[in-house]
Amino acid sequence: MNKIKVANSDLTVSELSLGCMRISEMTKAEIAHLIHTALDEGIDFFDHADVYGGGQCEAKFAEALDMTPRVRETMLIQSKCGIRKGSFDFSKTHILEAVEGSLERLRTEYLDVLLLHRPDALVEPEEVAEAFTILHESGKVRHFGVSNQNPMQIELLKKFVKQPIIFNQLQLSITNTGMIDAGINVNMEIDASVDRDGSILDYCRLHDITIQPWSPFQYGFFEGVFLDNDKFPVLNQKIDEIAAKWNVTNTAIAIAWLLRHPARMQPILGTTNPQRVSDACKASDVKLSRQEWYEIYLAAGNKLP
Ligand SMILES: NC(=O)c1ccc[n+]([C@@H]2O[C@H](COP(=O)([O-])OP(=O)(O)OC[C@H]3O[C@@H](n4cnc5c(N)ncnc54)[C@H](OP(=O)(O)O)[C@@H]3O)[C@@H](O)[C@H]2O)c1
Repeated sequence: MNKIKVANSDLTVSELSLGCMRISEMTKAEIAHLIHTALDEGIDFFDHADVYGGGQCEAKFAEALDMTPRVRETMLIQSKCGIRKGSFDFSKTHILEAVEGSLERLRTEYLDVLLLHRPDALVEPEEVAEAFTILHESGKVRHFGVSNQNPMQIELLKKFVKQPIIFNQLQLSITNTGMIDAGINVNMEIDASVDRDGSILDYCRLHDITIQPWSPFQYGFFEGVFLDNDKFPVLNQKIDEIAAKWNVTNTAIAIAWLLRHPARMQPILGTTNPQRVSDACKASDVKLSRQEWYEIYLAAGNKLP
């Protein structure tokens, strides 16, 4: 497992992370097996959110590990806040309360990273700044980031927030490439040239914000997995061909495609299957050629101008 030095922080993290959004229905033994497989493969970074499984994902994660301060030190834990039933909430009160809840469920005294989950239309960045400072100075949160935010939203936060924004978690997979398409198709009168995210990819590279691609195997908004899916015959044929060449699974190639991007992203795996975790980790040994990267991009139905 390769490591990434996260800019503007003292963090060095595994280049793959395990997302824990889907573990709430698993048994303690199954979760323990999943986490230990990830740790054995060199994944030391785990992604949570207060809302995953209504809090159950954080609680069951800690339970499965029989969390103690010693176990806690073997890993980095990130959580998110700001999503409530029927609204988004970046108020100081909510951020502080949400973090207390996560710490209690995770049975830990600190989060390595806290992300603001989804943009709150009513955000008051001064309040976010106050909350972050309280959390940082108390030692409850060591680093901060955002999720699903565009450049101007980050700039607005940065006007007040003192701590560096080190991550932006964004939806990105071979079949969900809007932020890449817009860059390739600049100045074209076609849909692919529409910049929906304010050049977020280039912004993050310019400002040394590490992108964490979420749903790396899904198409649409949780519509399903594109691998081995009859809806994507050309893409799967290409991925399988390249997987055979590298002697890895198609799962590894889907991740290798993200890792090949020079932005040095940290994909978040959502699988609950230990074998798939191991398969995905083989991506660390694959460096796709420029040609292979573009062949996969085109096989997904994209065109070059
Ligand atoms: N910031 C945000 O707004 C946001 C949004 C969504 C997710 N996330 C984070 O990102 C993580 C990943 O999201 P995700 O779970 O949607 O991503 P994903 O890894 O693309 O999807 C995982 C799902 O696909 C299934 N799957 C089926 N075949 C697969 C294959 N060959 N390879 C891999 N998975 C296969 C998995 O089933 P099995 O479990 O049976 O393998 C699992 O249900 C989450 O855990 C969460 O931490 C963040």
